[in-house]
Amino acid sequence: MRVLITAGPTREHLDPVRYLTNGSSGKMGYALAEAAVQQGWKVDLVSGPVALPAPAGVNRVAVVSAQEMYAACADRFAECDLFMAVAAVADFRPKYRAEQKQTKLETDSTLALEPTVDILKTLGQRRNAHQVLVGFAAETHDLETKAPAKLIAKGCDWIVANDVSAPGIGMEADANAVTLWNRSGRVGRKGPAPKREIAEWLWAQLIDAQF
Ligand code: CTP
Repeated sequence: MRVLITAGPTREHLDPVRYLTNGSSGKMGYALAEAAVQQGWKVDLVSGPVALPAPAGVNRVAVVSAQEMYAACADRFAECDLFMAVAAVADFRPKYRAEQKQTKLETDSTLALEPTVDILKTLGQRRNAHQVLVGFAAETHDLETKAPAKLIAKGCDWIVANDVSAPGIGMEADANAVTLWNRSGRVGRKGPAPKREIAEWLWAQLIDAQF
């Protein structure tokens, strides 16, 4: 069993020192990678910039932008049995990137943006029948309607949703609380609990149903 996991944020640079990004520590994706290694699986972890060491036994591929994350995943996608998109990918990037650091006077107060590639959706369109696709949805509101809608829109088999507006859990925190859906509906809920415990629970749900 070979799994491909994305984790952490992406950075979309305006110039060498400034960038657009999302809040994400990478802890949930790294916990899932660690727990997958414990199952005896081969794990490729395509990670945006985070402050975490590569988990033992995991092949970590470090990337910065959404485009780099997409390229690293596209290279490995055909070989994986399961693709899990945990990364908080920036949806937009600056249309222009300056080679040198821009001064205040050189900087326009309005940013021109363009969309980044939707990694999960794009790879989902070229999946084989045996491959399992798992998405994440971090929401501040309407999680119960938004998450299942994203599962369909992105062509996933499973979606894991968490409420990032709840204090002390989710984004950047050591704990999380998640709700899991598959194509038949809501499967269950876990947490608040340490991210490693959430990771083990998620793998157990998927193994029970898929493998
Ligand atoms: N995702 C991705 N590539 C992107 C954006 C998102 O692979 N460019 C993946 C995320 O890793 C996650 C899922 O898609 O697994 C949902 O991400 P989310 O940011 O919630 O979805 P968006 O499509 O960006 O929707 P929204 O309009 O709510 O931001």
